[in-house]
Amino acid sequence: MEQKADMQTKLVIINENDINKEALLEAGRIVRDGGLVAFPTETVYGLGGDALNPDSSCKIYEAKGRPSDNPLIVHIAKWEDIYRIAENVPEEACRLCEAFWPGPLTMILKKAECVPAETTGGLSSVAVRMPANETALAFIAAAGGYVAAPSANRSGRPSPTLAKYVMEDLDGRIDMVLDGGAVGIGLESTIVDLTQKKPMILRPGYITKDMLEKVLGGVEMDNAVWSAESKEPPRAPGMKYKHYAPQGELTIVSGKQEAVVSEINRLTAEMSQKGLKTGVIATEETRDGYRADLVKCVGRRRDEEAIAHNLYAALREFDDEGAQVIYSEDFTGSEIGQAIMNRLLKAAGHKIREV
Ligand code: TXA
Ligand code: MG
Repeated sequence: MEQKADMQTKLVIINENDINKEALLEAGRIVRDGGLVAFPTETVYGLGGDALNPDSSCKIYEAKGRPSDNPLIVHIAKWEDIYRIAENVPEEACRLCEAFWPGPLTMILKKAECVPAETTGGLSSVAVRMPANETALAFIAAAGGYVAAPSANRSGRPSPTLAKYVMEDLDGRIDMVLDGGAVGIGLESTIVDLTQKKPMILRPGYITKDMLEKVLGGVEMDNAVWSAESKEPPRAPGMKYKHYAPQGELTIVSGKQEAVVSEINRLTAEMSQKGLKTGVIATEETRDGYRADLVKCVGRRRDEEAIAHNLYAALREFDDEGAQVIYSEDFTGSEIGQAIMNRLLKAAGHKIREV
């Protein structure tokens, strides 16, 4: 059911170095009373509700327009709290906590009784993460310690990297937004499933396979990360939905740099002739070579962190500026490049053109 956008959403600016305690306490009170508050993390903005209150989780699905079989991540402020919401916590989880928490890593563990089925989309496992952001940690503590939070976007849109994008999607649908400025990383956390014999990455992110393998030994990657037609459904239910998509039709063009630039120029010229507004996701090295209506540079090709940081904002800007067809270079880097390419493939509905 579609919830009407008729609430008053309070927007409060929070400075991470000098946190406004009163606002944090108010945000905590709202969540403990069953309301919803969006907050910054180091990855993207989250939409927080009380993870142990089934009604709050239902409200989150409603506000986002998200299918309720897509489970939420439970955010904690103290790593020991993992033992309250998960059972049979394996030794690997402790090693990952030590290496990467607080930080952009979510672990899937067996769920404890106190976590309602509404929060986990009916699954017997639970996703847990301790974010590396002082505002997030203070807010989670004020909210009672267990905050269910998906990314704070309307379902299907790119995750918000600025509070203004949260407002664009959720103004009038939630109680409060804590505006902590621009997020650091810009792509959602790495998700690793520890409920199977061998740890498996369900969603790539800033914490890469190599980094996980240094701590755990062998780690697998879910096939669904790369393929639209994997035989089994993805293990992270959210990965099956169309995601991050701009309103314009996005296609990735893959190949040698020069060939990619000339193919994209050929395609945008063709589309312009049809009267369509064209956009290109470019890099510092190629931006001057394009002749599309809108050219968004996401950073230097080797600077994968910059590209991750700028990608979602670029996708949202194309929407604001009315791009109808968009072409992107590909990003097949070895590190966070895998996360970038995974999100781009989903945004493009796996449309990729090899040149
Ligand atoms: O960086 C992040 O992880 C951000 C910030 C706000 O922390 N959150 C985020 O949440 O990206 P969301 O809801 O947009 O994505 C959560 C993903 C979904 O694909 C969901 O299906 C998967 O995690 N997930 C959650 N619980 C799961 C479980 N028990 N088993 C498998 N996948 C799970
Ligand atoms: Mg999301």
